Order: sequence, then structure tokens, then C-alpha cells
Amino acid sequence: MSGDKPIELPSEAELAEMSRDDLVKLGTKLDGVELVHYEEKFPVPGTRAERRAQRSVAAWFMVSALSGLAFLGVFLFWPWEYESPFNESGHFLHNLYNPLIGLFLGLSVVALGVGALLYTKKFLPDELAVQQRHDGPSAAVDRATLVAELADAGDRSGIGRRSLIKRTAGLGAGVLGLGVAAVPLGALMKNPHTDSETKASLWHTSWKPEKPGEKVYLRRHTGNFHEVSLVRPEDVEPGGFETVFPFRESERDDEHALVAALKRADAPVMLIRMRPNQAITKRAGQEDFNHGDLYAYSKICTHLGCPTSLFEQQTGLLLCPCHQSQFDVFEYAKPRFGPATRPLPQLPITVDEEGYLVARSDFIEAVGPAFWERKS
Ligand code: FES
Repeated sequence: MSGDKPIELPSEAELAEMSRDDLVKLGTKLDGVELVHYEEKFPVPGTRAERRAQRSVAAWFMVSALSGLAFLGVFLFWPWEYESPFNESGHFLHNLYNPLIGLFLGLSVVALGVGALLYTKKFLPDELAVQQRHDGPSAAVDRATLVAELADAGDRSGIGRRSLIKRTAGLGAGVLGLGVAAVPLGALMKNPHTDSETKASLWHTSWKPEKPGEKVYLRRHTGNFHEVSLVRPEDVEPGGFETVFPFRESERDDEHALVAALKRADAPVMLIRMRPNQAITKRAGQEDFNHGDLYAYSKICTHLGCPTSLFEQQTGLLLCPCHQSQFDVFEYAKPRFGPATRPLPQLPITVDEEGYLVARSDFIEAVGPAFWERKS
């Protein structure tokens, strides 16, 4: 649109010949914009005041860049794995992981914002312009002059000739962008499946003996992390159940290991005693995994890994409270309802010569939810 009063428009050839300054003036006129006040912050370039203002803006961008780097460093290298309170320094460092990540990422974003705000306050000209509203689309001449006006505004902001600010702002935004990209990528940096013997492997659990012939007992959690209470078959009533965890003699005097054994995500197992004469369908190839009426199933839901801890003894259904999957323990913990599609893995158990329940081996399949490499 071009204002209400008729304005003599330049021809296309004249338009092409016009300088950016002329185009800005023409555009302002065509838009009916009246410049009421215009004042450069630093009319004389290169003064000490200007350099001081420039340094203060650049300092904020540097803070943003350094915080972004610190965030990246903490995210990638800080000890993030859980350490029990018995390892005082390890536990302290582990507890700092999240606060430090939040602190540095937040500082980086805030410093970048403060730098941008300071720049507009300190360097953009003070300008007051009034424009009348109009309806309908803009004419070609309006669009051409608008582009010129925007480019002109960019020039007047002085960003083009302030290379220190440009570089530090670019550095801050770049490092921050790198940090933001590192968050989703970071989780993909460590492949937990290359070595199935590492602690992080998804292919075996803490029920796996650490050396050949080592006994792994079924231990109950009494609420006292250091108490070792082993389970015998007669401890579980018919129709009853108990949550059990692995225990090995090598852990008996190791406070850290006793606590860690109760905290491993793959450790909890539901030990269930069927009622006498209950008809049971066993899974092919796992006919001897039970000990009499006692059956042990991983407590980790095969949907998304919640603990399936609600057992209904009349129907034999184990319920996962997260999304209501139900597993039928009368039929090898096969899913009956809900989003889970795989049965709960069964732990092979027996009784040792002293009458304690022990695991005969680790699970023969991965426990918990499916993952990429899993075929079934
Ligand atoms: S995690 Fe168990 S049903 Fe979703």
C-alpha cells in the first residue's frame, strides 16, 4: 500500500537505480510512516564509551559460551552412575551431576539472553515512528522498499561492524546449540550391547553367577539394607508370594554390595507358591524351572519395565499397575491383557543342601521391555 495521498512512484528502471537510503526514504513515505524521533546511541563511532558497552555485551556472550562448554563437559565426563552413600566421595560427586547440568545449561541460556537484551539497549538507535494502518496486500514497490528498510535497520544496529560482539554471540549460540544437540546424541554414544559381560549389558542380570559354581541365593528385603535374610521353600504359604533379590556369600560383609544388590533394576523376582493341585501350563523347554509349587518370575514388566507387583491368587494373574498388563502365572506368566506382548521371564530355581532356595542359573532371556537387538 502506498499512503492515502498520491505519491509519484518511480519506474522500474528508476527503482533499480535508487540507493538503499533513497529506497528507505521512499518506503517510509509510501507506508505513511512519520519518524518522530531518531537518535543514534553512539553517533561518533569508536569512542571509549562505545568500546566499553561493546565489552560488556561481549562478556555476557562469553559467559554463555563458557557455561555451554561447562555443560557439555559435565554432561559427557562427570561420574553420573549411581554410587551408594557408603562411598562418600563417589556419592557426593554423583549427587552433583544433575544440579551442575541444570546450572550450566541455565546460565548459558540466560547469559545469551542478557547479552542480546543488552545489545538492543546499548546499541540500537532510539527511534519513534508513527504509521497509519491499511488493509489488503502490499504492492511490489512496498515489498522492495521493506527489504531495503530491514537491511538498513540491520546496518544501523551496528552489528555489521562490531565483530567482537558478532563473534562472541556466535560462539555463545554455537556452544549452546552443541550442548542442546548433545543431550539426545549423548544417550547414543555408549553402546551397552557390545560386550554382553559388562554390568550395563541387557543380556544378563545380577542373577548370573560371577564365577562358575557360585551359589546365588534368593534373599528377601527386610527393610534393613544390610540384613541378609535367605528364603526357604517353607517360608512361602500356598497361594502366597514374596519379592526376592540375588545374594552371594562374597557380598556378606560388603555393605556396598549388599545395598547395590537390592537396587539393581534387573534384580527383583516374584517368588510365588501355587496352591496344591493347581493346574499349571509350563513353557516349552522350561518344564524344570520351578521347584515343586514354587515359581520365580522376573518382576520387571515386559511392556515398559514397571514392577508387576499385584498378585491375585484366585485367578493367578499378576497385574502391572502402570498400564494394566496382566500375566497369567498358571500359564508361564503369559500376558492375558494389556499392552505387554511377552511372558515374564522365569528364573530357574532349586534348593541347596542346607534347604535354601537358590537360582540354578541366570534367566535364559533378557528381562524387561524389548530393545532394538532383541529378536522376540
Ligand atoms: S509397564 Fe507394565 S503395562 Fe506398561
